[in-house]
Amino acid sequence: MLDLKEQVKALKSVPKHVAIIMDGNGRWAKKRGYLRALGHENGVDALRRIATAAAEVNIEYLTVYAFSSENWNRPKLEVKALMTILVSSLKKELKTLNDNKIRLRAIGDTSSLPKDCQSELNEVIELTKDHKHMTLTLALSYGSRAELSAAAKSLAQEVLDGKRTVESIDEDALAANLHTSEMPDPDLLIRTSNEFRISNFLMWQIAYSELFFSPKLWPDFQADDLYEAVLDFQNRERRFGKTSEQLKSNVS
Ligand code: FPP
Repeated sequence: MLDLKEQVKALKSVPKHVAIIMDGNGRWAKKRGYLRALGHENGVDALRRIATAAAEVNIEYLTVYAFSSENWNRPKLEVKALMTILVSSLKKELKTLNDNKIRLRAIGDTSSLPKDCQSELNEVIELTKDHKHMTLTLALSYGSRAELSAAAKSLAQEVLDGKRTVESIDEDALAANLHTSEMPDPDLLIRTSNEFRISNFLMWQIAYSELFFSPKLWPDFQADDLYEAVLDFQNRERRFGKTSEQLKSNVS
């Protein structure tokens, strides 16, 4: 019997883009009587494990929800701890990114992050920009509604400036103004910790994504949990609004 990683690799349809809502760090810590920050630190270990596991089965894009626009409303101390963890992880994980030929990117309102986070982030993005094996995108201070309203605003401005007509505004024009314009849409969205919500994450981009919900808390999420989700995806039929018969006969 092949192990889960080999089973994933044996099937053709490895998802190109996997997005993850990494949820459950707080509950993981609480269950053990630890501070929430320790849950986030263990969340970084899980992220390293999963990014490496994703690269090993040739997933090309991994996008993770690391800090939402709404997370700014958490207690000041937790926000500070998360930002400190972000800076120290970026410093520490450069080797993992280089070893696995992973390019780092960020989406979201990164200008609202503390200055030291921004400079560390920009440095690692610059140092990894030529890696081609996988793109790891951190969604930081990210919210889909903010992203979509900024796109609408920028298209409206282009109309006002005479650079485009109202008629030229279509789905492609809107998608081109999103932070994700250089990536394909996620094929698979995973959320951990038995929560069944989208929480303002990539709402435009996941229109046709397959969804997978795992009961595991994020710090407990292992490579095999990722492979189980991918295998589940590989055994689904993606119809994009067509019928099963149309897909089988390849009739459009
Ligand atoms: C959700 O758990 C997780 C977050 C808000 C942050 C995700 C962050 C990491 C995985 C580590 C940090 C990574 C970087 C790159 C900084 P929660 O706190 O909402 O958990 P709960 O629902 O159990 O309270």
